[in-house]
Amino acid sequence: MPTTAPTPATFDVDRVRQDFPALRQEVYEDTPLVYLDNAATSQKPESVIDRLNRYYRSENSNVHRGVHRLSQNATDAYEEAREAVRSYINAAATEQVIFTGGTTESINLVANTYGQRLEAGDEIVITEMEHHANIVPWQMLRDTRGIRLKVVPISDDGVLDLDALNDALTDRTRLVSVVHISNALGTVNPVEDIVDLAHDRGIPVLVDGAQSVPHGPIDVQRIGADFYCFSGHKMCGPTGIGVLYGRREMLESLPPYQGGGDMIEEVTFEKTTYADLPHRLEAGTPNIADAIALGTAARYMEELDPEAVGTHEADLLAYATERVRSIDGLRVIGTAPNKASVLSMAFEDLHPYDVGTILDRLGIAVRTGHHCTQPLMQRLGLPGTLRASFAFYNTRDDADALVDALETATTMLR
Ligand code: ALA
Repeated sequence: MPTTAPTPATFDVDRVRQDFPALRQEVYEDTPLVYLDNAATSQKPESVIDRLNRYYRSENSNVHRGVHRLSQNATDAYEEAREAVRSYINAAATEQVIFTGGTTESINLVANTYGQRLEAGDEIVITEMEHHANIVPWQMLRDTRGIRLKVVPISDDGVLDLDALNDALTDRTRLVSVVHISNALGTVNPVEDIVDLAHDRGIPVLVDGAQSVPHGPIDVQRIGADFYCFSGHKMCGPTGIGVLYGRREMLESLPPYQGGGDMIEEVTFEKTTYADLPHRLEAGTPNIADAIALGTAARYMEELDPEAVGTHEADLLAYATERVRSIDGLRVIGTAPNKASVLSMAFEDLHPYDVGTILDRLGIAVRTGHHCTQPLMQRLGLPGTLRASFAFYNTRDDADALVDALETATTMLR
């Protein structure tokens, strides 16, 4: 039986759970949902759902265009959302917050703009634990521009080799692009140290923060990265909205990404001049409703006590890890000392998909497979893992339900 200390009382998880209607449902008859797929997407609080509903019911209008009242209100709400996100990540100015479709689009935006200045033989450094979204855009650039892609190794427990990263930096390195928290392993990378290493050599850094922002506010100024990318839907916001944060000089140095309305200052058939940041990088009618609701999500998350959330999530990870270790033939994948609440598991004799399918019938939602990190799975010699990822609204009861279901599933399949 579990022996770790009880969850500290400072975080009222039962109260927080009341904010999330999706957590109160049965997925099959008499089978309540235990949602442990938060690294894929988080559930949404009532306030975010209500905000979307209110926008479409009574505020729907285009932004930055109309003289009419609704358009002005929508513009104010859209720009207020940018301010809410700015505050959540402690950016110096709202102009440094560019709304995109998500982390993937943010990275592709950088690849398609910053990438234009790269020449054959220039190098981009990534790591073995990157999500496909931080591999494929650079490979596309490699194929079109002849750049080199260098991959920094990790240890078997999922720790990035910082010496190897340092050794990979050369006079031709034009960018280090690294994940903050691994979606498949939970490893928290020392991004501030990585930024220091790269900046010492004048090399810019992009951080994929998709799995970091769900755990509480971050400080992009302290991290010091040139670009920081994330998605709204993993931090209680809607899908289809995300953010590219950039250092001001870096963003100002980028050529336009997409051409169209809203990103221009003046257009003639001879030439176009472009708008200032952030609009220069947001062509066309933006995703207004989802941006506004992301602002609500950022405010919601910012109101949670980050220390209490951190302690609660660390307790869930420690508790669940200790309990699953008692299951025969189960191996925890990703045992770095500094981990977020992501618990990946492999089975000696069972495919994660088979176990995950039975878990589903027992109401437990987890992700199985390669988690969009196929090269990482190849590195670890695994077909995939079964991943339980905990959010601040999960409980030890959820972890117990996971363990009970894993015991049932492994017994049934053996
Ligand atoms: N990147 C998301 C995950 O890890 C979808 O599940």
